[in-house]
Amino acid sequence: MIGPVNPPTRLLMGPGPVNADPRVLRAMSAPLVGQYDPWMTATMNETMALYRDVFRTGNEQTFLVDGTSRAGIEAALVSLLEPGDRVLVPVFGRFGHLLVEIAERCRAEVHTIEVPWGEVFPPEQVEDAVRRVRPKVLAVVQGDTSTTMCQPLADLGEICRRHDVLLYCDATASLGGNAFETDAWGLDIATAGLQKCLGGPSGSAPITLSDRAAEVIDGRKHVEAGIREAGDEAAGERIASNYLDLAQIMDYWGPRRLNHHTEATTMLYGARECARLLVEEGLDVAVERHALHGRAMLEGVRGLGLDVFGDVEHKMHNVVAVAIPDGVDGDRARAGLLTDFGIEIGTSFGPLHGKVWRIGTMGYNARTDAVLVTLAALEQVLRAYGVPLTAGGGVAAAQEVYA
Ligand SMILES: Cc1ncc(COP(=O)(O)O)c(C=O)c1O
Repeated sequence: MIGPVNPPTRLLMGPGPVNADPRVLRAMSAPLVGQYDPWMTATMNETMALYRDVFRTGNEQTFLVDGTSRAGIEAALVSLLEPGDRVLVPVFGRFGHLLVEIAERCRAEVHTIEVPWGEVFPPEQVEDAVRRVRPKVLAVVQGDTSTTMCQPLADLGEICRRHDVLLYCDATASLGGNAFETDAWGLDIATAGLQKCLGGPSGSAPITLSDRAAEVIDGRKHVEAGIREAGDEAAGERIASNYLDLAQIMDYWGPRRLNHHTEATTMLYGARECARLLVEEGLDVAVERHALHGRAMLEGVRGLGLDVFGDVEHKMHNVVAVAIPDGVDGDRARAGLLTDFGIEIGTSFGPLHGKVWRIGTMGYNARTDAVLVTLAALEQVLRAYGVPLTAGGGVAAAQEVYA
């Protein structure tokens, strides 16, 4: 007999997903209503308003794409890019490669610039490439969890305006835990997910679009047969995905309430609560909280005598890559943390696999007790491998940060 779902208790201290805030899970157990119930459409409008605060934008077009974070990325790119359009992707980790992969599937002409993993791009390097490639879209990740780096964005919007380029940003891993300014930085589209600093489960992708991005996408609107009305003449190159067609999804969330997908109501409740909690806390306060606990984890692992990967000056607040000490089997040590202590930390990808663990302090888990317990448990697991460690050095260093 297959029993009911009864997961083990875990403390999720990897690069995401992390434990959802219990208040988000409670919101997700609320009853369903019909998708055009006035209460539901009002709740959708509230969700749009909350995410305008989270993204720091006045963009009317701010809503949810149903699906995990990459649904948001794919919706943005497939709705912007027509076959043959040039797109420039600065790649500084795995998720830059994901933008390339998605843009290629849109049959765009994809150009890249790269820096070694563990570094970010100076704005001049991006501008040089923009001058050379003359792309329609510059697509960039803010925080790449694969390397823990946080790409500075403040100058990129200005560069894109100067060269008449649309700027897309994947803020999945960074939003809510690192400064993010859609309007002040001149971003045209930004997308995110819930399972990192927003403290929810994965499955919903908040998105915001500037008026000029919305106009470009609206210029490709082909309303589906069967719901088309007078005035719905097809325009431009049809967007290659129906489900992720932002031109139609904007009309679904907008006053027209044009029928598209059936909104994932339970995810909407969760996404709304994630944003509500952040706005209630204050975005700046939440970013400071992530900075504090991130610093405590960073100093904690250093206090144990472990090395940290990458340019720490440009590290996201919410995740640190810790060098696996010589002689330690990284995956076995992670398994020991999980089975003996119920704590999950992250492995890593590509060139970093087997070399670093990634430890997160984000969302609901950007908390003192979560940091201290993780450092204490890590010390015990490494001790079993005979790694020379400063006894109690991790917890003590973190506590010094808190003091
Ligand atoms: C920066 C970044 N982009 C995209 C994704 C993909 O998100 P999802 O797994 O929710 O589709 C992740 C997930 O870790 C991420 O860190």
